[in-house]
Amino acid sequence: MSRTSLSRYLIEQQRANNAITADLRFLIEVVARACKAISHTVNKGELAGILGEAGTGNIQGEAQKKLDVIANDVLLEANEWGGHLAAMASEEMDHPYPIPNSYPKGGFLLLFDPLDGSSNIDINISVGTIFSVLKAPNGDTPTEADFLQPGTRQVCAGYTLYGPQTMLVLTLGNGVNGFTLDRETGSFVLTHPNMSIPTETREFAINMSNMRHWQAPVKRYVDELLAGKSGPLGKDFNMRWVASMVGDVHRILTRGGIFMYPRDNREPEKAGKLRLMYEANPMSMIVEQAGGVSTNGHTRILDIQPEQLHQRVAVFLGSKQEVERVTSYHQA
Ligand code: AHG
Ligand code: MN
Ligand code: MN
Repeated sequence: MSRTSLSRYLIEQQRANNAITADLRFLIEVVARACKAISHTVNKGELAGILGEAGTGNIQGEAQKKLDVIANDVLLEANEWGGHLAAMASEEMDHPYPIPNSYPKGGFLLLFDPLDGSSNIDINISVGTIFSVLKAPNGDTPTEADFLQPGTRQVCAGYTLYGPQTMLVLTLGNGVNGFTLDRETGSFVLTHPNMSIPTETREFAINMSNMRHWQAPVKRYVDELLAGKSGPLGKDFNMRWVASMVGDVHRILTRGGIFMYPRDNREPEKAGKLRLMYEANPMSMIVEQAGGVSTNGHTRILDIQPEQLHQRVAVFLGSKQEVERVTSYHQA
């Protein structure tokens, strides 16, 4: 049986469904190629000397790992010359990166978390790349304000998981499809068509070490999860926490679950840990397109009007029944 490659899938989407333009198809191909390069580097690990600290920090006040910086550079270099983008923005850059004047410019904005799960790099546990695509509203000289569009405006979102297999998971706004990297041929192959998140689940993901900082709705909900069969939810729950959002979301897309990174009282001025524009928005689009739900406890994440490129947001996403339950506890 011949399998569908990512390139063929994209061409078919362009021809048959008009789901994407040729420009967007090219953009996704370029991002996929960059992720392949990151995957090879991740796989080499210490052989390529890429483990450990970069010795620099990002705007979030986080210490950068060498691989954070390398992955960011790979994505910038791959995407700057093709003529499909007006600008890029990244977790690892304070401000947007305009396409250099020596190259033609295009109509899209690309946002990314180049390396998600940085704390897993040095211990050989799964990491990923997350990306989001918006249209540039004001032609080819975008400002930072042009990026501040709600997640509903994303034309495409995806992530690449660098795990035992490297997988690219993609939505163009008409469902979610998963592609596995075939290292012998070098192509991403459609292996997980029409991914869908079960409505109900018995599995949750949250960093329990922050429990003492949580606010009342989250404390109540996790207490009920832990109470199991004899508690108000009437069933036992299992827990998983990869510490790479890409890994946790991929598990949820595969077998269901609820992922939570709530805002807490450690730094009350921060709305959570995860970033809206290049973590929560793309993951929320993927989750919704797979039949799941994603909120910040109060509203749909995709409806939030961003105010800052690097703003943070509380995240509750995954299986509908549980995300709706914990969201309802925030209204109580
Ligand atoms: P990043 O490595 O891009 O900064 O993101 C890490 C995020 C996310 O992937 C993960 O779910 C979460 O941080 C883990 O946080 P804790 O270390 O607090 O568990
Ligand atoms: Mn991240
Ligand atoms: Mn990151």
